[in-house]
Amino acid sequence: MKTVSLLGSTGSIGTQTLDVVEAFPDRFRVGVLAANRSWEALARQALKFRPDVVALGDPQFLPDLRQALIGSGIPIEAGEEGVLAVASRPEPDVVVSALVGVAGLKPTLAALQAGKPIALANKETLVVGGELVTGLARQKNCPLLPVDSEHSAIFQCLQGQPAGSLQRILLTASGGPFRLLPREELGAVTAEQALRHPTWSMGAKITIDSATLMNKGFEVLEAVHLFDVPADRIEVWVHPQSVIHSMVEFVDGSVLAQMGPPDMRTPIQYALGWPERLPRTWSALGLEACRHLTFEEPRTADFPCLSYAFEAGRIQGTMPAVLNAANEVAVARFLKHEIGFLDLPATIRACMDAHRAVSNPSLEDLEAADQEARERAGSLPAGIGGG
Ligand SMILES: NC(=O)c1ccc[n+]([C@@H]2O[C@H](COP(=O)([O-])OP(=O)(O)OC[C@H]3O[C@@H](n4cnc5c(N)ncnc54)[C@H](OP(=O)(O)O)[C@@H]3O)[C@@H](O)[C@H]2O)c1
Repeated sequence: MKTVSLLGSTGSIGTQTLDVVEAFPDRFRVGVLAANRSWEALARQALKFRPDVVALGDPQFLPDLRQALIGSGIPIEAGEEGVLAVASRPEPDVVVSALVGVAGLKPTLAALQAGKPIALANKETLVVGGELVTGLARQKNCPLLPVDSEHSAIFQCLQGQPAGSLQRILLTASGGPFRLLPREELGAVTAEQALRHPTWSMGAKITIDSATLMNKGFEVLEAVHLFDVPADRIEVWVHPQSVIHSMVEFVDGSVLAQMGPPDMRTPIQYALGWPERLPRTWSALGLEACRHLTFEEPRTADFPCLSYAFEAGRIQGTMPAVLNAANEVAVARFLKHEIGFLDLPATIRACMDAHRAVSNPSLEDLEAADQEARERAGSLPAGIGGG
């Protein structure tokens, strides 16, 4: 029986992780549930899964959560400190890091500091603090088990392969909802259109990141850190069917691919069960889905966020933190209809151009770069990307 600590339990990854836990009651139990503001959903989950403790990031809703859990005997922590406290609890066997954005970095570091294996969904953690996180994971001898479907695919392809045999990573991308939209129409797309992903059902932020290809850029940086491979040995192939979740080329020219239906519960289950493979509970891959598998080059001229991520990856230091913070602010503004779709890459470009990267950054350096980029990104006028 593994005890699972679930940070970000009310989100898309969080709720699908609970589906996996529920499907294997003899294998998994919930130790920790943590969310930010969704106190009603958190209370429902807590009453159903009976964790040892829950945490709510935004203390404003603490009285509501207390009321909802009255008589349950489940302890409650609150605020950023509360989330950090539950992230570093001693009981869990694995901590699922499924917060969204850079908010996931400190709790992930806290869990590693406590010596916990991490099932990592929160890619921004590695984008921003890749060296800190992988360094601490090595020092504490804690595995980083990828939950992102592409990185789970690469991880699975690499199981049992000798060190030094990896030549290239072929990272697949669905291409997002605007893969075929002419460039001149991109300026007019709305948040509602961008939120309609063709193959995956996900949280709002990652869905917008998929539409701009920023998500794929983040995944390149995530792969650099997870698999210790330079960005110039990672290629992005657009594969609209989302059947092949990524491929690995070895030094002898052989290529292994991992395939499956687009269902995040499969990589979540693999990360929780690793190194075992648990029986299939979710839908199987059918022949029909595999009849026409196609690949295209990404349209980087029209979706420049992907190139900006490669650029930030080459510069390293604090630049990926700026890329991420500018993107977080721009996505939030886009979702509120404050800026247009083309302002998303333009905001990132402006923040990267204005930043002088610090190499080998400490957590404080990363926080300062994050803050600087957030202020700049928040003050840029709408329309800087044209439209
Ligand atoms: N969704 C997918 O299919 C998918 C696939 C691959 C990778 N990922 C990655 O997984 C991560 C989570 O994505 P998602 O789509 O599940 O996001 P989401 O649906 O927006 O959920 C985010 C979760 O994090 C919680 N949270 C956010 N900020 C917090 C804070 N400061 N303190 C405590 N809890 C906080 C949210 O709580 P509230 O509900 O209270 O706001 C929610 O439970 C992202 O990094 C994403 O890139 C997602």
